[in-house]
Amino acid sequence: MGYVITIDGPAASGKSSVSRELAKSLEIPWVSTGAFYRGLAYAALRQNIALTDREKLSELAMSNEWRVEMTPQKTKVWFGQEDVTEMIGQETVGNAASTISHYPEIRQSLLDHQRNCAVGVKGLVAEGRDCGTVIFPRAEVKIYITASSENRAGRRAQELGLDQKELVKQQEKRDHQDSTRKVAPLQVPEGALVVDTTEMNFEEVVAQVNAFVASKLN
Ligand code: DC
Repeated sequence: MGYVITIDGPAASGKSSVSRELAKSLEIPWVSTGAFYRGLAYAALRQNIALTDREKLSELAMSNEWRVEMTPQKTKVWFGQEDVTEMIGQETVGNAASTISHYPEIRQSLLDHQRNCAVGVKGLVAEGRDCGTVIFPRAEVKIYITASSENRAGRRAQELGLDQKELVKQQEKRDHQDSTRKVAPLQVPEGALVVDTTEMNFEEVVAQVNAFVASKLN
């Protein structure tokens, strides 16, 4: 198993862009662990499985009807032979992912797949909600990225071409769900560098993260 850098934080905080950039400069892969929840939620929606049917969801979680693939640009999701990476980016899928992420047995069944991303590589950048606390508690470097909810909604609104006010509401609901759930809630891991990106541009964030990573790995 290679070394691990975890990047946790709320929805649309910019974790994926920072992870991709960091992974590129270190020449290691990165994974969005949220893609596992989004992939499962998407597969459930496509198969008309109710988001409350925990038994069927667990079966689907273990099935090979869908899978996650790491690529330098994106964490891809496949539903059968279909690349559904674009579809899982939608807010409806994000909200469904947040709902099913409350079930402990679902979290448990995705855990090994998420951990396996660090096997057979020299290093891994893993981003999500519980990467530094549950998936990789012994990660060499832990980072927590956040920003004001207006700022995050603005970013998502631009990406998806949606109304910012409506997104602020939806995102606050999702953040609340993700941080107050009983299992593996979103929290700042012990020893993590906390970066509030509200007043920072992308280059400044990357520079701060790179400096921290270098100080930890050397
Ligand atoms: O990071 P994201 O927006 O793609 O994540 C979608 C949902 O998946 C998020 O609202 C909660 C859940 N999630 C989780 O519970 N644990 C993770 N490590 C990553 C995501």
